[in-house]
Amino acid sequence: MTINSKIQNINCCDHIARRVGDIAPSGIRKFFDLLASMDGVISLGIGEPDYPTPYHIREAAISSIENGYTMYTPNSGIPELRQELSKHLKNTYNLDYADSQILITVGVSEAMDLAARALVNPGDEVLIPDPCYVSYSPCVVLAGGVPVMIPTCEEERFEISAEKIEPLITEKTKALLIGYPANPTGTIMPREKLEEIVKLANQHGLIIISDEIYSRLVYDCEHTCIATLPGAYENTVFLGGFSKAYAMTGWRIGYAVGPASIIAAMTKIHQYTIMSVPTMSQVAAVEALRNGETSAAEMVADYNRRRLVMVKGLCDIGLSCFKPQGAFYAFPSIKNTGMTSEDFAHNLLMEEKVAVVPGNAFGRCGEGYVRCCYATSLKELYEALERMERFLKKRGASQAATFQV
Ligand SMILES: Cc1ncc(COP(=O)(O)O)c(C=O)c1O
Repeated sequence: MTINSKIQNINCCDHIARRVGDIAPSGIRKFFDLLASMDGVISLGIGEPDYPTPYHIREAAISSIENGYTMYTPNSGIPELRQELSKHLKNTYNLDYADSQILITVGVSEAMDLAARALVNPGDEVLIPDPCYVSYSPCVVLAGGVPVMIPTCEEERFEISAEKIEPLITEKTKALLIGYPANPTGTIMPREKLEEIVKLANQHGLIIISDEIYSRLVYDCEHTCIATLPGAYENTVFLGGFSKAYAMTGWRIGYAVGPASIIAAMTKIHQYTIMSVPTMSQVAAVEALRNGETSAAEMVADYNRRRLVMVKGLCDIGLSCFKPQGAFYAFPSIKNTGMTSEDFAHNLLMEEKVAVVPGNAFGRCGEGYVRCCYATSLKELYEALERMERFLKKRGASQAATFQV
């Protein structure tokens, strides 16, 4: 048998590990592959700032390249960045993180994967809100764990609570993986509810993995950093990033801070799989932390203007929508159209060239909703709303809906 005929006899699909084969591709990507082939689409789909990274941050990276700063860095990140981050967390939240408690990662994405892999043994259960960011469940599954979903609903502003979580805890429960402000709903959690959840986690010896990537994007309220709550610091792995606050999605940089033992375990995986985050991204992140606040504040003020237009606009055309207080997403109900969220998103894209993400991409409780990212220009938002109204009118579903505050 020749080598070639041997190769032809292999069915590669049979060789894919079951835990990978069983995971569905992201429901977001499916739509973006489709819209990439179309012209004239207004995208309310991808969750990323429409701004380029502020120039002074780009300039810092350019000069690091010009100065030949192009080698591997220490696994945990360059000392300047770890020091600057430690200062930032102290100034923002009055939290003390020593060098051994800080790891610079390839975005919150890598940090989340590392946290799951460092903590989860085969069969361990991890509690996750439903709906939630598309990566949470796959991360747990890829680490050999079992995601256990905490159902939420619009009537309760998609908030979780200790009462909802307690009955789901078993002797296999290892951790809670949560993220507020939330993607896809824009929910922020009231401080008191988070305090109750921390208390419950402590009673059951659970680790909290808290994805706070949208912490800088809150409106009319303050962000509650979970690690600041009584009893939380010792058992919280706090994940943060640069992608959203400083419009740095393409730089692929974020961080994990938390108990030294967990950060050391995460660093071990990072060391063998990633080695270190791109050097120029780390230099850019130092500049973002030192001098990026003015630009961040301007972008947040702009997102806030768009948020108000988006939510009111959606309600005016007949899609009820609670008023999100964080991130840059609105999550209107499309239940009155009688369509599934996938049909709604598909038909809207085909008929009116507006891209939104079906809510079921974020979990079962997301069915009946679509995610609209308002990080796009006001001009495009108004145009998208007009197109959506036309789409709804054709189906007799454009009565103004309740505006929930
Ligand atoms: C809730 C949430 N967490 C994490 C990420 C990934 O962030 P990063 O770009 O830092 O990997 C995203 C990206 O959209 C997100 O929405």
